[in-house]
Amino acid sequence: MILYFSATGNSKYVAQRIAKALNDKAVSIEHHNGNIILSEKEYFGIVTPTHFWELPVIMREFLEKLTLTLSKENYIFMIATYGSIPGCCGTDTKKMLARKNISLNGAFSVKMPDSWTPFFDLSNPQKVQKQNNNAEVQIDKVIAQLKARKMGNHATPKAPYFLRGLTDSLFGKARQTTNFYVEETCIGCGICVKRCPVQAIELKNNKPVWIKEQCALCLRCLHACPKFAIQYGNGKTKKHGQYKHPDFTKHERKS
Ligand SMILES: Cc1cc2nc3c(=O)[nH]c(=O)nc-3n(C[C@H](O)[C@H](O)[C@H](O)COP(=O)(O)O)c2cc1C
Ligand code: SF4
Ligand code: SF4
Repeated sequence: MILYFSATGNSKYVAQRIAKALNDKAVSIEHHNGNIILSEKEYFGIVTPTHFWELPVIMREFLEKLTLTLSKENYIFMIATYGSIPGCCGTDTKKMLARKNISLNGAFSVKMPDSWTPFFDLSNPQKVQKQNNNAEVQIDKVIAQLKARKMGNHATPKAPYFLRGLTDSLFGKARQTTNFYVEETCIGCGICVKRCPVQAIELKNNKPVWIKEQCALCLRCLHACPKFAIQYGNGKTKKHGQYKHPDFTKHERKS
């Protein structure tokens, strides 16, 4: 069983590639109750984006509610997709699972386009395509490591864990929904409302309004808006472009 959270499709794509290679299935944590019973030798993995060198809020909440019943010779792994530094994601997962007496056997990372567009520029399609092409090689490497049941935390580059207090506080501030604003081009389609994984947005007078003080800051709303009307913070998101993994776009069009 491979569980993933994905706001813009990177982690979903990796989860699906891994599931195919391991003859397993990939399921979104947004559609899972967190109760899992493993059979003998079964793999259990999570695939997640990195948010501020940490696990996303949604993944942390899921791991807190997870009840995992192990069998013999299971292999437990995590993969952090990231754009620059996955930081503490491997250690975070290890610590969270340890509180449930579950040992994380392997942690890995795959570098992909960085969806944190308040900072990173994804406006050049050729560059983005190149990053996704490079990711394919890394995914193949991780698949080989998973098949070999490689042990240890290989989710690199790591960040010193003592900095986690600092990143936590920065993340908390960044999650204030007052950081979002909506441009005139909004057509009131409600896609942002529908896609938000924490129901933080409502339509009022045909315009999105954030009804929670903090959200999960996955940026799915910003990247999914058909009019690119949702912007964040410092005004750079507009020129840095919108992003969805190419496979995610295909999938979303089908559904
Ligand atoms: C709020 C936010 C914070 C992020 N922080 C980091 C980070 O600390 N390090 C990093 O390498 N990538 C960071 N990223 C980039 C994502 O982890 C990366 O693009 C990931 O592959 C996106 O996965 P998804 O498409 O499945 O949502 C961040 C993205 C967002 C939206
Ligand atoms: S997805 Fe974009 S266009 Fe649609 S309601 Fe939200 S902000 Fe407006
Ligand atoms: S409001 Fe946007 S960024 Fe915040 S959790 Fe919802 S979809 Fe993600």
